[in-house]
Amino acid sequence: MSWLLTPADWNPRRMLCGGSEILTMFWWCAGLTALACAARAFLYEPYQVEITRYQLEIDDLPDSFQGFTILQLSDLHISGLGSRERRLMEIIAREEVDLILNTGDLISSPRGIPVALQVIRGARSRYGTFFVYGNNEIEELRDLSDIRRPLEELGYQVLVNENRTLNLPHGTVHVIGVDDPKSYRDDLELAVTGLPESGLKILMSHTPETFEKACALGIPITFAGHTHGGQVRFPIIGAIWTDTPRTGIRYSAGRYLRDSRHLIVSRGLGWSLMPMRFLCLPEIVFVTLLKSPPGTSSGSDHRSTFEPERPPLRVSEPESSTSP
Ligand SMILES: [Fe+2]
Repeated sequence: MSWLLTPADWNPRRMLCGGSEILTMFWWCAGLTALACAARAFLYEPYQVEITRYQLEIDDLPDSFQGFTILQLSDLHISGLGSRERRLMEIIAREEVDLILNTGDLISSPRGIPVALQVIRGARSRYGTFFVYGNNEIEELRDLSDIRRPLEELGYQVLVNENRTLNLPHGTVHVIGVDDPKSYRDDLELAVTGLPESGLKILMSHTPETFEKACALGIPITFAGHTHGGQVRFPIIGAIWTDTPRTGIRYSAGRYLRDSRHLIVSRGLGWSLMPMRFLCLPEIVFVTLLKSPPGTSSGSDHRSTFEPERPPLRVSEPESSTSP
């Protein structure tokens, strides 16, 4: 095999200046790899739906909340009814949860509203469905009631720097929602006004930029999106950029733990700028709440970094393995 490199061939000048068979092979391999990555990024990944399931161990969770289930939908960016949207409809229709939290960017433009409502209509929750605005709602809609009204007709409660208290058979849940942080309309202090100490508090925020303030306020669970996971991720280093100037890429995707407070950042389902994702499949998120076992309190974890917490606890199901 004449293209194999032997010690006698190890001549950097010859390799770099062309003319060698090894250089030709290198460029062929690089070209084919780039082509395969581009095909995956543009033709495959944007049209998948991955289901991610987290089990969150919450300190001091009342026994009655053991197994409480939440579906998070985020960044659907719906503009039409394609295979991905139909797949999403199948998934959400077959599983009833306790709460549905939709963390914004439901649409990319006003003409997506009717289709978006059709897509999310089949999601079923026992105790409530909630929505907070994302930057796309703020930027694309001249009148926010264009989306608020039909969402409320579907049974959604739209939270704009406010909270709702649910008195459930399990106990009391306070769902808190802030307006879009990307547009600097979030006001978490206002959103928690009047909340008592007791009860399980859950924060919805379009971007993860409110998480650190939520930690300071003692809110144990925050759900966010907006980042799309960076849309392009690399092995080991993950995302290289997210549109979150206040926190940078600290909370690009996944689950994070800080001072016993949990943050879930969904990669969302849609895309920004162009239909492209790489090593960053679209996802919807199911969460089950569990009580921290005695002696394993997450409160004893004082890691100073914001790296995703214990990734093995996450169970993902690619589209092919979840087909009915
Ligand atoms: Fe967004």
